[in-house]
Amino acid sequence: MKPYKLAIVGATGVVGRCVLHILEEKNLPNLEYVLFASHRSAGQTLSFMGKEYVVQELNENSFDEGFDFAIFSAGGDTAKKFAPIASAKGCIVVDNSSAFRMEKEVPLIVPEVNSEEIANHKGIISNPNCSTIQAVVALKPLDEKYHLKRIIYSTYQAVSGAGSKGLSDLEEGITSFVTKKEYSLQKFPYPIFNNCLPHIDVFLENGYTKEEEKMINETRKILKRPDLKITATAVRVPVFNSHSEAITVEFEKDFHLEELVEVLKHSPGIIVQDDFQHAIYPLASTSTGYDEVFCGRIRRDESVASGVNLWVVADNIRKGAASNAVQIVEKLIALDQDRTR
Ligand code: A2P
Repeated sequence: MKPYKLAIVGATGVVGRCVLHILEEKNLPNLEYVLFASHRSAGQTLSFMGKEYVVQELNENSFDEGFDFAIFSAGGDTAKKFAPIASAKGCIVVDNSSAFRMEKEVPLIVPEVNSEEIANHKGIISNPNCSTIQAVVALKPLDEKYHLKRIIYSTYQAVSGAGSKGLSDLEEGITSFVTKKEYSLQKFPYPIFNNCLPHIDVFLENGYTKEEEKMINETRKILKRPDLKITATAVRVPVFNSHSEAITVEFEKDFHLEELVEVLKHSPGIIVQDDFQHAIYPLASTSTGYDEVFCGRIRRDESVASGVNLWVVADNIRKGAASNAVQIVEKLIALDQDRTR
C-alpha cells in the first residue's frame, strides 16, 4: 500500500500541537508527515512520533512535493491564501478556520453527525467551529427522534480556543493577581482573569458576535435544517480548556425524559454524566483529554410544551478541532482505500 503524505499546517500552534499529539496516539499506518508554520518558527524542531521534525515555512511552493492531505490550523487568512493552492495541487485540505465553512461546495463535517458528506468534497473540507461541534453531536440524535423546533445556546468558552495568546492572557492575569505586577493583554479586549467576556470574535451590525453567528449558521448547515430557529450568547470564561454549553431546545414532538437520556447514551461520541442527586455532571476539568462530548443536567424545560435543558461539555481543542480533523482524515483514507481496492 502506498504511504499517504499529510501536511500539518500551523504545527506550532495550540491546535496544531494537539493534532500531532492525537496522531501520535493513533499511530495511523502508512503516513508520512511534514510540519509547517510561519517564518517565525521555521527551522524550529518538534519531537513527533519518536523523531525530531524541522518545521518548514509555509509558502506557495510547499505543496509541490505531492501531498494527499493537509490539516490546516493556522487561522482564516492563511487558509484563504494556501488552502486553494494545496487543493489545486491534488491535496485534500481539512481546514480548522472559518474561511470556507459556509461555502456551498465545502462539506462542514462532524464525523458522528454527517460523515456521509465527506465524499462530496471538491478539495476542501471544513471543520466546524469548536462550540458548534460539541453541540451538534448532542443535538443530532435528538433532532432525528423528536425534531428540533428551536435552540437557545449559552456558551462558557475556554481561553485555549483563542490560541496561545488567549492562554497567555489568563496565565499572566493569574500571575499578576499574585505578584501585583502589571502585564499587557495579547488577545482579549479586557482581562479574562476574574471576568466573563460576552465577546468572542468581532461584533456584527445586528449586535451578535461572529462566534454566535457561526454557531447559528453552522448548526443549520450540519443538521440540514436551514430554517431552524436558533439564538446564541457566546461567553469567554477564565477556564484554560474545554468549552461548556447550556443548551435549551424545544421539540416538535413530545418525549419521555428517560427515553431521551437513553437516546443520548446510545448515540456516537456522547457520554452521559447525569446524576444530580450525587452532584454528577460534566465539568471542563474532567472533560479535558477526551474526544467524547459529555452531557448532563438533563431536565425538562417546564416553561414550554416539549423542551429540554442540557449541559454539554467537551475538550474544545481535541473534539472541537484537532481530533475532529484527524477523524476526517481517517475517513478520507478509508474512502481512498475503498476506491482503490
Ligand atoms: P507560528 O508559530 O510560526 O506563528 P495559535 O492559534 O495557537 O496562536 O497558532 C497559530 C498557528 O498558525 C501557529 O502554528 C502559527 O505559526 C501558524 N501560522 C500563523 N500564520 C501563519 C502563516 N502565514 N503561515 C503558516 N502558518 C502560520
